[in-house]
Formats: sequence, C-alpha cells, structure tokens
Amino acid sequence: MISIISIMLPRASVSARRINEVLETEASIKDKEETKEFVENKKGYVEFKNVSFRYPDADTEILEDIDFTAKPGETTALIGSTGSGKSTVVNLIPRFYDVTGGELLIDGVNVKDVPQKELRKRIGFVPQKGVLFSGTIESNIKYGNSSMSDEQMKKAAEIAQATDFIERKEKQFKSEIAQGGNNVSGGQKQRLSIARALAIDPEIIVFDDSFSALDFKTDSKLREELAKQTKGKTVIIVAQRISTILNADQIIVLDEGKIVGKGTHKELLKNCEQYREIALSQLSKEELEGGAN
Ligand SMILES: Nc1ncnc2c1ncn2[C@@H]1O[C@H](COP(=O)(O)OP(=O)(O)O)[C@@H](O)[C@H]1O
Ligand SMILES: [Mg+2]
Repeated sequence: MISIISIMLPRASVSARRINEVLETEASIKDKEETKEFVENKKGYVEFKNVSFRYPDADTEILEDIDFTAKPGETTALIGSTGSGKSTVVNLIPRFYDVTGGELLIDGVNVKDVPQKELRKRIGFVPQKGVLFSGTIESNIKYGNSSMSDEQMKKAAEIAQATDFIERKEKQFKSEIAQGGNNVSGGQKQRLSIARALAIDPEIIVFDDSFSALDFKTDSKLREELAKQTKGKTVIIVAQRISTILNADQIIVLDEGKIVGKGTHKELLKNCEQYREIALSQLSKEELEGGAN
C-alpha cells in the first residue's frame, strides 16, 4: 500500500497544480469598469466597420477590412470556401474574440463597451458543431434561462424540427443526454442546438453552418418555420449550400479573409466571379435562373 501511495501522491499533486492553473487563468475578454447601454432605436443592428482580426499569437491577419451591416428583419448570409474566415467573422459577434482593428457595433454600441452578459442575452448562437451538455433534453434547451416556461421550450423545439424525434423517446423532454451529446445523431444534436438558441428569443440569431448536418427536407422545412418565427429579427447564416441562402436579403462572399462580393443572389451571379463559381458547381441551370431576388 505504502509503495502504491508513494507513486500516487506525486501524480495527484501534479494534477492538482494543472487544475489550479486552469482555474486561475484570467479571462482575456473582460468587461470595462464603466460600461455603456445599448441604443434602443438600433435594436438588432450588427455593424462591422472596417474590422480586421488576428488570432492571439498568430502573426498574420485572418480578416481584413470586413465592412457590412446586418439589419433587423433581414437575413444576411456568409458564403465562401473552407478557411475563408466565415466562422471567425461570426465568432466576433458574441465577443468570443476581440477585433484587432476597426469596430464592431451591436445595437449601436461597441461590443467592448457593454457588459458581456447583456450582449449575449441578445444573441442566439448556433456553433458549427452542435454542442450539447450532459443532462436532459430539457436542461439543454433551457440552458440560456432555466426558468423559461415549458411552452417556450416546446415552441423552440417545434421550430427547430426536433419535436418528432423527442416525442418518439420514452421520456421525451426528460430524456438523458450523455456528455457531449454522444447518444444522439449529428442531425439531432444540431437541431437541439438550434432549439437552445431560439429558446431565449434573441433579437439577433447566428447560424454557423448549422444546416449542413440536416437532410435536404429538414433543412428546407426548418428554414420555412424559421422565416415565420424570426420576423423582425436579425438573422445571420453561414452556409455551404447556395440553396440555403438563395433568398437572403444580403449575401457576403468571403475569400481569404476579405469580402469579395456583397449583394443578392441575382446581383452576385452577375458581378462576382467567386460567387458564380460556387453557384455553378451546386445548382442546376433552372435553379440558377429561377432563384428569387
Ligand atoms: N483558433 C484559431 N487560432 C488560429 N487560427 C485559426 C483559429 N481558428 C481558425 N483559424 C484560421 O483562420 C482561418 C479562417 O478559419 P475559419 O474562420 O474557421 O474559416 P471558415 O469558417 O470559413 O471555414 C483559417 O486559416 C484557420 O486556419
Ligand atoms: Mg467555419
């Protein structure tokens, strides 16, 4: 026993030191001592003003001169090849990182000037990979506000096209979710993440490539419901499939961290080479000509 303990003790002390290091790490994103309030009549505005961005410790700029405004009642889509910076752009909105140049305003104020808690209450964010926590379906959907009503939870699940598979489970909303959501499929995980983001009824909702794990039918049904339910809200969608964003009010085309096109589907087909390439590779001729806008 003593020899076993003599091996265990130093190991435990090393682990304890590592855990402590994590616990004592100071967050690099902090609230200012004096914070500002959101501008009421600019509700739902997301304004990127000549934003550039470099990841901490990296030596090159990943984003350069990103300039666009997403408005309430409109859908703004981001498209571009893998690595073009789409996720990086949307990660700046809830202030997961701070911009290194230019300004990012939400509801008329710089995101660095408002309390993070207030900022994140306004934003529903669905990350590229659906993330679930161990608990139940209910605790996952109510994550943003544990006192929300069951009605509100069910409505969010309904819009996210999750009701069918939840109701097929024996314990329905009380069904267990394993750590990391390993006991549900990729598409189900994605839909529960979407339900969680919708449940807090945010004024700005961001989908980072959140529809790619869904089959075509679910994808279009979900977007149809979403369009009905998100009237007046600011919707920002990162997409791979052009069909997901055909009807967006504004499409931003990214290439190597820069905006190379901005406009509607029809406008971009005419004047953006990169967009035309993506479109030609994905859509049939009829779809190209029949697209709205
Ligand atoms: N945490 C990070 N640290 C350093 N570089 C990163 C990080 N995340 C992404 N990058 C780099 O930033 C670039 C843009 O990535 P990303 O925004 O994920 O593109 P997209 O979502 O369009 O595929 C890529 O070159 C990627 O390697
Ligand atoms: Mg991405």
